[in-house]
Amino acid sequence: MTNWKVKTGFDNMDAPAVCRLLENTYWAREHPKDVMLRAMQNSRCYGVFDEQDRQIGFARAVTDDATVFYLADVVVEEACRGRGAGRALMTAVANDPALKGLRGLLVTLDAHGLYEPYGFVRSGPSFMMKKPEAWNDAKGNPFAAPVGGMCYNK
Ligand SMILES: CC(C)(COP(=O)(O)OP(=O)(O)OC[C@H]1O[C@@H](n2cnc3c(N)ncnc32)[C@H](O)[C@@H]1OP(=O)(O)O)[C@@H](O)C(=O)NCCC(=O)NCCS
Repeated sequence: MTNWKVKTGFDNMDAPAVCRLLENTYWAREHPKDVMLRAMQNSRCYGVFDEQDRQIGFARAVTDDATVFYLADVVVEEACRGRGAGRALMTAVANDPALKGLRGLLVTLDAHGLYEPYGFVRSGPSFMMKKPEAWNDAKGNPFAAPVGGMCYNK
């Protein structure tokens, strides 16, 4: 397994690199950059970096700091997948003292197996989601909203 370096906090992220990673996902590829940036700035950010200090992975958590967090935008550069970077991100999330004891939620189409070792279980038929037909960016232009299935931690 590669020896990835994990950094936390928006100030330690390479925001343009994160936007490039998100542009290649099925859920955020149509998100305008200003929306991605605003989401990062208002989240707890986790990044994975290679030996050249190049950011190759990202995840963020949105939380009320009291009861619940929502895990979003978990992504690893395609060429670096399958070498533990996703698990490095999830370990950082699991070890974040700010999230300890909080209910965790996430939406995924097919990556349940990444999250299950960290305590997330499938919610089955109880998941509900308000899915607007379109979200608007800062200029009022609509863009696609993400879809998926829900997981929560026990
Ligand atoms: C999902 C993703 C972040 C995993 O990153 P990664 O660096 O390849 O993950 P790791 O090498 O640390 O290992 C991932 C583990 O999760 C498992 N896994 C389960 N579902 C998976 C999926 N859809 N994609 C990749 N791994 C998955 C793998 O099998 C592996 O477990 P194993 O080692 O026991 O076989 C990466 O594949 C990715 O960016 N995919 C595209 C974006 C995406 O789908 N993100 C998740 C959105 S909810």
